[in-house]
Amino acid sequence: MKKTMTDFYLKNKRVLIRVDFNVPMKEGVITDDNRIKESLKTIKYAIENGAKVILFSHLGRIKEEADLAKNSLAPVATRLEELLGKKVTFVESTRGPIVEAAIQNMKEGDVVLLQNTRYEDLYGKLESKNDEELGEYWASLGDIFINDAFGTCHRAHASNVGIASHLPSGLGFLVEKEVENLRIALENKEHPYTVILGGAKVSDKVGVIESLGEKADFLLIGGAMAYTFLKAKGVDVKSSLVDEESLDFCLQMLEKYKDKIILPVDSVNAKSTTDTNVRVCSIEHFEEGDRGLDIGPKTISLFQEKLEKSRLIVWNGTLGYAEVEAFSHGTKAILEILKRSNAIKIIGGGDTAASVISLGYKEDMTHISTGGGASLEFLEGKELPGIKAIEDKDA
Ligand code: 3PG
Repeated sequence: MKKTMTDFYLKNKRVLIRVDFNVPMKEGVITDDNRIKESLKTIKYAIENGAKVILFSHLGRIKEEADLAKNSLAPVATRLEELLGKKVTFVESTRGPIVEAAIQNMKEGDVVLLQNTRYEDLYGKLESKNDEELGEYWASLGDIFINDAFGTCHRAHASNVGIASHLPSGLGFLVEKEVENLRIALENKEHPYTVILGGAKVSDKVGVIESLGEKADFLLIGGAMAYTFLKAKGVDVKSSLVDEESLDFCLQMLEKYKDKIILPVDSVNAKSTTDTNVRVCSIEHFEEGDRGLDIGPKTISLFQEKLEKSRLIVWNGTLGYAEVEAFSHGTKAILEILKRSNAIKIIGGGDTAASVISLGYKEDMTHISTGGGASLEFLEGKELPGIKAIEDKDA
């Protein structure tokens, strides 16, 4: 068991909190603030307990100077201030006298957000390579370290693993909630247990298919990756996206889990994602140039039959090319089925989470992860370095 926020006396302490404010932005405007909202519980708890709250986050990736301005955390500081209803001091540096003075001037309950930790990647990738000196320097700015950036827990960076190795440390409420819920997916106590898998590439999901394939009763496969499975089975999917390198793996899985894997029986096809001549056909009747872009109505019924009797449902990867209305019916139909279901419903992060939230089903799910890569690696059964680095309860 890892230490958590409630294991520490926070009053008047400089509490460094690693959050994941890596939110999608378009021309400097945040298009989805879910990650900021999900971090509020931890930040508010620290404020209410009299801590001096110093926040660290990355945003995007910094490879050259041109990446700096477009990945500034300034818009995030503004949004956080609105959500907290409280002043957030944004410091436009990641180290040095300005940072130190801002922290020196803090009073109990004050909040400071430092500039994007990956600004330190510009010369020598200091953040992403977990530079020892950088982690030690950041740790010197605080008394306690809390990791609440679940989305970054699969990375061993200076702002999570680095700081944690120099300070008393604990997990924030968001990471605790993620671990508790995603663990349900790994501990298969509820049956029937159904896993819905989608997304473009089978190769991104090999670990999850192996890990959850073992535990689940049914694996419903949709999204572009379904066409790779279908091709491995000998179906002529014409111009559908196929992850050729994964065909052998799919065949192995189809043999190993032949009673568990359920593939589409029909498909919504077009010649391209912008083609308006959309048609539904059974998987045996693809025409020349057809690209499969969504699951068809018979597949929805087949999936529905399994989902309605399930007591635990885990969903990772989008079904169909849902950005386009004509190819979003499968995703919407599955969301409606999940809405009516009393099962425990756990949604992986990244694109799946974004679709569930933007289509208005957030409140109908038991848990929606804030981590894309992190939730995948957790579901693969891997130990995440950002969590491993935190002190154990009995330490
Ligand atoms: C994410 O969005 O998955 C996390 O914030 C991690 O970002 P990264 O893939 O750039 O490390």
